[in-house]
Amino acid sequence: MQRFIDEAVENFAHDHTKEESEIFRRLREETYREMKSPQMQVGRIEGRFLKMLVRLTGARRVLEIGMFTGYSTLMMAEGLPDDGRIITCDIDPKAEAIARKYFAESPHGRKVEVRMGAALETIKSLAGPIDMVFIDADKENYSNYYKACFPLVRPGGLIVADNVLWSGQVLDPQDDATRAIVAFDDLVQTDPRVENVCLTVRDGMMLAWKRPEG
Ligand SMILES: C[S@@+](CC[C@H](N)C(=O)[O-])C[C@H]1O[C@@H](n2cnc3c(N)ncnc32)[C@H](O)[C@@H]1O
Repeated sequence: MQRFIDEAVENFAHDHTKEESEIFRRLREETYREMKSPQMQVGRIEGRFLKMLVRLTGARRVLEIGMFTGYSTLMMAEGLPDDGRIITCDIDPKAEAIARKYFAESPHGRKVEVRMGAALETIKSLAGPIDMVFIDADKENYSNYYKACFPLVRPGGLIVADNVLWSGQVLDPQDDATRAIVAFDDLVQTDPRVENVCLTVRDGMMLAWKRPEG
């Protein structure tokens, strides 16, 4: 993944973001040892940011689309109150096995509900209200995920999407995944029902706040 910020500055930011608890270090190491694309994991800065968003919005019910080995899931679970819940979707059984191991170990794992299978099908089976959604699965479906989960998000709720700058390739899209991300970014930008900000955190994060009348 191409960096937007000078590597030394990025490292400084990393070193000035509170360290994760020990379980995340082990989860990261196992993911890098066992999985083919371990860089998909959000990592410390974005993970902490997601946890903070959960706390700041007072979210009690979160939907995650793209669990992988569960790093972002567990981070957001830590930010939830004791009776909070995060529903997380994936299709990869190998990633699921690793994720479940760490959910079982963490005191916050009981807040996690894993739903295996195509996320669009899972979303169809859910009822609102959801306080916060984190979209981080197959890029071709980003706009579909946004449209499918929008009615479930409570007014004043938040939709967050990862990789919205796609290593800068959004400036010159050459493949379907990049074109899909640009289409998603345009969709959010022109949606009058939300206020949004596109951040250069890691690979780009879109935050869309659903207006009360949205
Ligand atoms: C970028 S990774 C998620 C990383 C994760 N948020 C983390 O921080 O570790 C994307 C995940 O989306 C999953 N995925 C891809 N297509 C999917 C689909 N149609 N439905 C549900 N999950 C899907 C992949 O199996 C992969 O684990």
